Amino acid sequence: MIRVCFVCLGNICRSPQAEGIFRHLVQEAGREGEFVIDSAGTGGWHAGEQPDPRTRSTSARRGVPLDHLAQQFTRADFARFDHVLAMDSHNFADLLALAPDHESRQKVRRLRDLDPAGTGDVPDPYYGADGFDHVFDLCEAACRGLLAELAVNR
Ligand code: 4NP
Repeated sequence: MIRVCFVCLGNICRSPQAEGIFRHLVQEAGREGEFVIDSAGTGGWHAGEQPDPRTRSTSARRGVPLDHLAQQFTRADFARFDHVLAMDSHNFADLLALAPDHESRQKVRRLRDLDPAGTGDVPDPYYGADGFDHVFDLCEAACRGLLAELAVNR
């Protein structure tokens, strides 16, 4: 199994969106049996909550149903995943600081580094009004790149 975890700050906006998109792409490719796909937050304030209503409505409108409850990413989770994809540079730095060893640090990348057409952060939409479609677009492009990479390397 290829084990993938998407990580943002609260695990209610960006990372559950990326998780849902990647699962959708994997299902479209008929490869759901090959992957464990999850998401988590570097913070635990929203643990147990559904994704933000704006994330859920954007995702549903764009054909990607979400089924996730927020959880905090812990040090022990580095052993549970092969790929840990950070949404932005803060999440990336927090994950590197949390990682227990070199092997764990090697698993951490920024999600948009998988987007052949882009780089940088998936911006936090929590305090904005209209960032959710943009987040969806950025996550989709990067998730397509991730799946392509993992198709080559299987
Ligand atoms: P996320 O967005 O990291 O994409 O889930 C946020 C959700 C909640 C908060 C910040 C960002 N918050 O401060 O509660």
